[in-house]
Amino acid sequence: AQLIIDASGGRPIPETLFGIFFEEINHAGAGGVWAELVHNRGFEAGGPNTPSNIDPWSKIGDDSYIIVSTDRSSCFERNKVAVRLDVLCDNIGNNICPAGGVGIYNPGYWGMNIEQGKTYKIVLYVRSLGSIDVSVSLTSSDGLQMLATGNIIASAAEVSNWTKVEVLLKAEISNHNSRLQLTTLKQGVIWFDQVSAMPLDTYKGHGFRSDLVEMLADMKPRFVRFPGGCFVEGDWLRNAFRWKETIGPWEERPGHFGDVWIYWTDDGLGYFEFLQLAEDLGALPIWVFNNGISHHDEVDTSKIMPFVQEALDGLEFALGDSDSTWGSVRAAMGHPEPFDLRYVAIGNEDCGKKNYRGNYLKFYDAIRKAYPDIQMISNCDASSSPLDHPAHYYDFHIYTSANDMFSKIHKFDHAPRNGPKAFVSEYAVTSREDAGTGSLKAAIAEAAFAIGLENNSDAVSMASYAPLFVNVNDRRWNPDTIVFNSSHLYGTPSYWMQHFFRESSGATLLHATLQTNSTYLVASAIIWKSSEDEENHLKIKIVNFGSSAVNLKISVDGLGMNSLRLSGSTKTVLSSSNPLDENSFTNPKKVAPIQSLMSKVGKNMDSVLPPYSLTAF
Ligand code: AHR
Repeated sequence: AQLIIDASGGRPIPETLFGIFFEEINHAGAGGVWAELVHNRGFEAGGPNTPSNIDPWSKIGDDSYIIVSTDRSSCFERNKVAVRLDVLCDNIGNNICPAGGVGIYNPGYWGMNIEQGKTYKIVLYVRSLGSIDVSVSLTSSDGLQMLATGNIIASAAEVSNWTKVEVLLKAEISNHNSRLQLTTLKQGVIWFDQVSAMPLDTYKGHGFRSDLVEMLADMKPRFVRFPGGCFVEGDWLRNAFRWKETIGPWEERPGHFGDVWIYWTDDGLGYFEFLQLAEDLGALPIWVFNNGISHHDEVDTSKIMPFVQEALDGLEFALGDSDSTWGSVRAAMGHPEPFDLRYVAIGNEDCGKKNYRGNYLKFYDAIRKAYPDIQMISNCDASSSPLDHPAHYYDFHIYTSANDMFSKIHKFDHAPRNGPKAFVSEYAVTSREDAGTGSLKAAIAEAAFAIGLENNSDAVSMASYAPLFVNVNDRRWNPDTIVFNSSHLYGTPSYWMQHFFRESSGATLLHATLQTNSTYLVASAIIWKSSEDEENHLKIKIVNFGSSAVNLKISVDGLGMNSLRLSGSTKTVLSSSNPLDENSFTNPKKVAPIQSLMSKVGKNMDSVLPPYSLTAF
């Protein structure tokens, strides 16, 4: 096969072509990227009902020593449930408490990762009828090994009303499967509410788990679409993500049950934190909001205005001056400057729904009027026929087999170049026989599709793989980009595939022609400017989706060869001995890019493309 590249001209690729889509799915946020260690910190997982669902909190000590219940006595109006401990034993008298005391513990999200030498900030609210002496400890999962401990000692007067207490615990021992304990040896009645444990050391100090966000930063995403997906819609509207419930002091957030991915979230990772995450990654936020439509119920267009106002208020929260109604709430949360929000998506996958068009137009018109610069994304596909409503972008999702994904390399060849551009906000190979839990074969088919997007980037403006994260303890969707548990993480081959596109956004796309009999090859070539050396770099990417190796000749025309610095040129290959190979906690880089220095670089080059491979020169 021969690949001929004409480097004498080209066209610009959109600045935003490749980004990421963060959805609260698979415990991606709660128990994932949000570094809160306590699971169900407000005892509210049963909603506002009592008795509440305090799971995974458990009792330490049997019924003859302690009774644990919930009531609605919290000082927080939007989350009234608090836990009540009736401690029946004491360290003197007839009913002596067991050694170590009685109380409650929280195992976090399948075990807390506590690391020696690191400091953890415990914040809780407490009230009691008498004086208290409570131990706050991080321990092994059976409670036997103490990793760090501190005390809360207070007189009855000090805790007769709800009182906020902070304890800093420095871990003396590491343990990936730890728990937080609140114990006492003193008889009495104690209430706790809003119990939080966070490592002091988080990404940019903003509460994100550093190791996970560093994996994202390495992808150099140009946008972050959030917070879903189906998570935005809800199976029922009452369980949808509503931004106003997720802002302000964390203690006052009610939390909500995400009924599509079936778990409770305390909403510590709320609208503000999503905007902050995008900013911290140097990416543009893309906010997907609920448009009055869930999987099973819809708000009639005649009654949609409260939802429209909620979206307008959300825009004011992100963009308004710090003296505006909602901008001032943002400022009080520590971000006086507006966020750089330029894009919103009106709903998710709702195009076929009864009220979509009616509702959409209400949102579109109101946003256009109040925020004329905001770019709006429709859920309706305009790749083959025009939209019947105005939009700046149209959303396109594809989950399919590897062969079908590969066959879609030309999907956007004939998509309109005028009018709304495509936002391929969710793409992945999902068929179990191809993808397993994240295979090389899936990644190579996705790479081919992404090269097709790059080659059609005059019709496609943005693209993101989905989903981004999976906590292995709650795999609701498979496969995903980054796999983790409380302490370990790795990228699937699809994660590493996306690394090959890190330089594409804002680059210049060159004309690349493949001459071959093979139907398994696809290629692109770009010139991009590195911010590190301020020099222009040529990058050629080729997918071989076939089961045989291919000899390839590359010729590059149109470069002033005399002004080139050829030394240091590299070849990077993503491949493996078996197309179904996957990464794992024990072998996290079994399928990962391997880079080598190229020995012969020039106008004409020869190379061999391994079977099922993605190669970059
Ligand atoms: O990415 C997983 C889900 O797939 C998203 O929530 C939804 O938009 C799509 O159906």
